[in-house]
Amino acid sequence: MRKNIVAGNWKMNTTVAEGVALAKEVNEALAGAAPKCDVVVCVPFTHLCPVAAAIDQTRLGLGAENCADHKSGAYTGEVSAPMVASTGATYVILGHSERRQYYGETSETLREKVALALENGLTPIFCIGEVLEERENGTFNEVVRKQVEEGLFNLSAEDFGKIVLAYEPVWAIGTGKTATPEQAEDMHAWIRSVIAGKYGNEVAENTSILYGGSCKPGNAAELFAKPDIDGGLIGGAALKCADFMGIVNAF
Ligand code: PGA
Repeated sequence: MRKNIVAGNWKMNTTVAEGVALAKEVNEALAGAAPKCDVVVCVPFTHLCPVAAAIDQTRLGLGAENCADHKSGAYTGEVSAPMVASTGATYVILGHSERRQYYGETSETLREKVALALENGLTPIFCIGEVLEERENGTFNEVVRKQVEEGLFNLSAEDFGKIVLAYEPVWAIGTGKTATPEQAEDMHAWIRSVIAGKYGNEVAENTSILYGGSCKPGNAAELFAKPDIDGGLIGGAALKCADFMGIVNAF
């Protein structure tokens, strides 16, 4: 059975002290809750070690927001998958639309990143999603199919089984415009059918597919009620413990 997951994506927000305080607050809130999902925070590289030391990872998982497409060497400013793993983190967001859009990430580099993440025992949260123009011109299903195929279908079924997907329509990220639960469900079901076509029904049914894009306490429950929506990747609302917990408790 696939897992339900709520993962925070802090993006480029908080100082180390602020981030540690937020992680501690979430960690404590979870101690008193009985969440019906796994809960993860993905944080800036600088925050990984101190946050790892501040939380109980059996309760709150920890991830990075990116990793390099090389293992080590002369790549000034980059942070590798082995480095991320050495902090104690176990997840890594890959292919976020902001990385694709602003830092030129392509399916080719993402295949390298996914391979290195898996080699180092990290669970990739692999992001896909169409831009507004593709939503409006009706090509969104094909766009997302291509992102899944090009980024991931080189994997064996066993390795594909370690991937978490996050569908994030770019037009809904940070805009306050959420996809309707029906739009999200249609896309999630489509993605699952694309996976089934390649790896078979069992792998497809076992893949967690998260929704991301202006997910909030007020709309999470109706999104998570849909059969193919297995949780959320949360940006803005992950920066306030009460909002993040409101989404966790929507399950
Ligand atoms: P948002 O971001 O929740 O602020 O829309 C989601 C994301 O980009 O992961």
